[in-house]
Amino acid sequence: MQRVETVNALRAQVKAWRDQNKIIAFVPTMGNLHQGHLSLVQKAQELADKVIVSIFVNPLQFDDQADLSAYPRTMDADIKQLMSVATDLVFTPNIDVMYPQGMEAHSTVVVPGMDDKLCGKNRPGHFDGVATVVSKFFNMVQADIAIFGEKDYQQLLLIKKLVLDLNLPIEVIGSETFRDESGLAMSSRNQYLTDSERKKASVLYQTLMELKNQLEQGEQDFKRLQQQAVEKLKLAGFSPDYVEIRRAGNLDLVNTEDTDLRILVAAYLGKARLIDNIACNLA
Ligand code: PAJ
Repeated sequence: MQRVETVNALRAQVKAWRDQNKIIAFVPTMGNLHQGHLSLVQKAQELADKVIVSIFVNPLQFDDQADLSAYPRTMDADIKQLMSVATDLVFTPNIDVMYPQGMEAHSTVVVPGMDDKLCGKNRPGHFDGVATVVSKFFNMVQADIAIFGEKDYQQLLLIKKLVLDLNLPIEVIGSETFRDESGLAMSSRNQYLTDSERKKASVLYQTLMELKNQLEQGEQDFKRLQQQAVEKLKLAGFSPDYVEIRRAGNLDLVNTEDTDLRILVAAYLGKARLIDNIACNLA
């Protein structure tokens, strides 16, 4: 596996692969890798000849300085994990490579309609930071396809809309959420959980599955279902941000005619803000 830290070195390798007609896939990450990330690399390998992973903790998408400082940085372990799944290249730019003129007056990419609800509402500026850094990465890497996790479903839709709106020459592909045996979605934030919180954490996924069952049985009082789920999470010790039943393609509010739904949740458990979502198709 090659490790490159500059855009020039990255582009030189990408050009060499292009000259050999290789299909190139890109998996952006913020590091502190776990099996969820590695499952994206494996998906990328199924779809492409060469896989590039980036590791960069992007300050622009953190609305909370303390959260940014606390974000786990585990570069050596990350590199080992990427080697273990035969990644072709890891791109590890430092802050000066990503933001050579600083971040203050940096051009910003805003994806309207997707950045002001659910996780966007409670984290102002977060999705602008994501859209901006991902646009930069797409231009630096110039891959054929990019893989994003369904775990961050709103982020996945945001990036799909960005690519569509700006005609970016890349195909965005979603990859299934990787869970542990209890159903808890793998996340870098899970390590903020104490042992007893970790035991409770799977209630998040159970709550989503229960909601899905209720919808499949024909219940249509969305407000009541959401409220019940919030209460259930509170009883289990969570502080929920939201539990929402939304339209799958754009996360708009649903009505009783909708059949392609997504159920999304964000909740604090102790220090950790956990998010999860599942599909619910009623057709
Ligand atoms: P990060 O949180 O490191 O996630 C990188 C990618 O891994 C994202 O596409 C995310 O959805 C995916 N992922 C995380 N946990 C997963 C799981 N349990 N199963 C499947 N996929 C999972 O998301 C970001 O970084 C950043 O916002 C980024 C896109 C890199 C921009 O900075």
